[in-house]
Amino acid sequence: MTPGRGSGGPAPRRAAITAGTLRKDRWWLQPLITVVILAAFVAYSSFRAFQNAHYFAEPYISPFYSPCLTTACEGDTFPKLFTGPAWISPALYILVIPLGLRLTCYYYRKTYYRSFWLSPPACAVAEPHRRYTGETRLPLLGQNIHRYALYGALVFNVILTYDAVLAFRNEEGEWGHMGLGTLVLLTNAALLWLYSLSCHSCRHIIGGRLNHFSRHPLRYKAWTRISALNGRHAMFAWLSLFSVALADVYVFLLATGTISDLRFF
Ligand code: FES
Repeated sequence: MTPGRGSGGPAPRRAAITAGTLRKDRWWLQPLITVVILAAFVAYSSFRAFQNAHYFAEPYISPFYSPCLTTACEGDTFPKLFTGPAWISPALYILVIPLGLRLTCYYYRKTYYRSFWLSPPACAVAEPHRRYTGETRLPLLGQNIHRYALYGALVFNVILTYDAVLAFRNEEGEWGHMGLGTLVLLTNAALLWLYSLSCHSCRHIIGGRLNHFSRHPLRYKAWTRISALNGRHAMFAWLSLFSVALADVYVFLLATGTISDLRFF
């Protein structure tokens, strides 16, 4: 048996070559695309969160600002729980939950460790760091809060689904309306559910720590469903990232009067 593959021997070392990699393909393309997309999303979402305006266009609210918790909020979609200084953007009160989920997500961790920290940048490409400490120290030790971020995100999903349901009302508050914005909010809520339910922690919560699936048939059934979603977690991570941004852009364009909502009925 090869040492390091279950034999208990030392791990095999990297081949003694001076080149960083012998790969000739464009291995750098994927990390580069990841950096561009994530950096663009962080820049756009920060701008919008601090803008503190144009996040409500009856009956739609941007997901960046929902649940809108203060009396300073535009619109009327969620109970206003307290009065905060008007100069603090309502988005800042809630940002920590979705941000915490994505930042500690196992899939995004893999992605940004590779693309931003080059740790490692790709398979068979040497990393520039001399030492590897994993997630055993601060600040990366904080990645362990992921499960709690997931609990918070599930509450947000319920609220964003509620927003999507409210989007079936018209400007006068009457039910029976549907516009492109309704579809945009519904799609966003659905993708956020798929992203959260396919989470590795969610899979563990449903089916973990059981010795016998045979004694827990319901949990087993749920676990097989969640496992099927889990296989597509990366795809849901990206799709939900785009859908959140697109839902915000759509509401922004309506709120600023740049476009009008396309009405289906
Ligand atoms: Fe990605 Fe939990 S692993 S959200």
